[in-house]
Amino acid sequence: MNFSVVILAAGKGTRMKSSLPKVLHPIGGKPMVQHIIDTVNKLGASNIHLVYGHGRDQLQTTLNHNALSWCLQDQQLGTGHAVQQAAPHIQDDEDVLILVGDAPLIKESTLQQLIAVKKNADLALLTVELNDPTGMGRIIRQGEQVTAIVEHKDATTEQHQIKETNTGMMIMGGKDLKRWLAALNNHNAQGEFYLTDVIEMAANEGKSIHASQPSSAIEVEGINNRIQLASIERAYQTQQANDLMLKGVSLLDPSRFDLRGELEVGQDITIDTNVIIQGKVKIGSNTSIGANCTLIDCEIADHAVIHPNSIIEQACVGENCSVGPFARLRPGAIMKQKSRVGNFVEMKKTTLGEGSKANHLTYLGDTEVGAGANIGAGTITCNYDGVNKFKTQIKDGAFIGSNSAIVAPAVIGVNATVGAGSVITKEVSDNGLAIARSKQRNMDNWQRPEKK
Ligand code: UD1
Ligand code: CA
Repeated sequence: MNFSVVILAAGKGTRMKSSLPKVLHPIGGKPMVQHIIDTVNKLGASNIHLVYGHGRDQLQTTLNHNALSWCLQDQQLGTGHAVQQAAPHIQDDEDVLILVGDAPLIKESTLQQLIAVKKNADLALLTVELNDPTGMGRIIRQGEQVTAIVEHKDATTEQHQIKETNTGMMIMGGKDLKRWLAALNNHNAQGEFYLTDVIEMAANEGKSIHASQPSSAIEVEGINNRIQLASIERAYQTQQANDLMLKGVSLLDPSRFDLRGELEVGQDITIDTNVIIQGKVKIGSNTSIGANCTLIDCEIADHAVIHPNSIIEQACVGENCSVGPFARLRPGAIMKQKSRVGNFVEMKKTTLGEGSKANHLTYLGDTEVGAGANIGAGTITCNYDGVNKFKTQIKDGAFIGSNSAIVAPAVIGVNATVGAGSVITKEVSDNGLAIARSKQRNMDNWQRPEKK
C-alpha cells in the first residue's frame, strides 16, 4: 500500500540552548533529521511531510527543500496538533507513518517491520521496554490488547510501573488518522493535543492495534540536550566502526574513530587512533592511516601510508605513496604513484609526479612536478604576488636544492638542477644548473671583535 510519512520536528529544542533548530544538530556530520529522511527514502514513501516550527530558513537551506512537503506548525500545541498540520496533504486511501525528528538512529529494518505489522492490523505502534520509563507515554493493555497510551504526567502511580513505552512512531490509515485527529482535545495535564489519544479512539472503535519493537532501544532514543547528542553520536560511531571492521578494516581503537560522511574501503586497512574522516572518502587496500589524521573528501590508493598528524582534503594520494607525518594536502593536491611528501610539507593545486619527493618543510602551490623530481627541504613556490596566482612547472628528474624560492610563473627544465638557497626568477633549461644566490666570500684569520 502507498504510504506517506510525517516527521514531527516543530519542537523548539529549548534544552539544546542553541540558535540552530534541534533537528539540524549533526550526528556523524549530518543533521539528525536528514538521517531519518535518508532512512525513509529507502522505504519508498510517496511523500515526506516535515512539520516544522522554528528556523524555516535554516531548515530549507540545509535540507533538500524540494524533496519535502513543508508543514508549518506555528505554535507547538502538542504532537496531535503537529500531525494536524500535515492532515490536509494526507490521502484517505494511503497509510501514514508518523516519526519523530529527534531519534536519528531508527533503522530501515525496524520501520519495514512496523509497516509489515500494519498489514494485519488497523494501527501499528512501535513500543520499547525501558528500565527507566520516566517521562514516557505508557502502553496500556487489557490482556494482550493495546487499548491506550497514557502520558507520564497523566498516569496513575500504578501506570507508572509500566515499562512498555511509546516511541512516538506509528502507522495507520489516512482516513482513520484524519477522523481521530479532528476529535482530539487538550484536556490533560499538559494542556496539549496529544497524538497518543488516537490509540484509545481506535480501541473504542474496535480497531486492531498491534505493537512492534525496534531491534535495540538506542534506535528510538530521542535527543533533547547536548549530553544525549554526544551519547547518540558515540552509538552511531560505534555502529559505523563495527561495519568497517566487518569489512576488513582494523581500527586500533574503535572508540577513537570518527566517520562523518561516507567511507569506501578496500581490505587490510589499518587506522590508528583519533582519525577523523569527513565527506566522501575512499581508502584502498593494504593502506595505513596514522594517528590523528584528518581525511576530508579525498582518495587514498592501495599500498599508501599516511603517517600521523596529516591532513588531506580534496586531494588524491596514489598507489604506494607516503604522506607525512605532519603533511597537509590541500584541495587539488595529486600525488602520483610512489611519490612522497614528508613532514611540514603543504601542497595545493599541485601534482607531484611518479616517484617524486618533497620530504621536508616545503610549500608547493599551483605547481606541476614531473616524475622522479627531488624537491629539497625548505623549497617554496612563490605562486602569489599579492594579487594574482601564477603557475610553476618542475619537469621530470629536476633537483631543487634546499631553501630555494621559485618565483612563479616559472619553469625548471627536465633534469635541471637548482642550487641550494636560490631565488629562481628565470626559466632553467633542460639539464642546466641555476644558482641564484650571493657568492660566498672567505677572509682568512678573521679577528673577532672583543668586549670593550
Ligand atoms: C512524546 C509522546 C510520548 C512518547 C515520547 C517519546 C505524545 C503526547 N507523547 O512525548 O508518548 O513516549 O514522545 O519520545 O505524543 N513536536 C512537534 N510539535 C509539538 C510537540 C512536539 O512537532 O507541538 C515534536 C517534537 O519536536 C518531537 C516530537 O514531536 O520531535 C515529540 O515531542 P516531545 O515534546 O518530545 O514529546 P514527549 O512529550 O516527549
Ligand atoms: Ca511534550
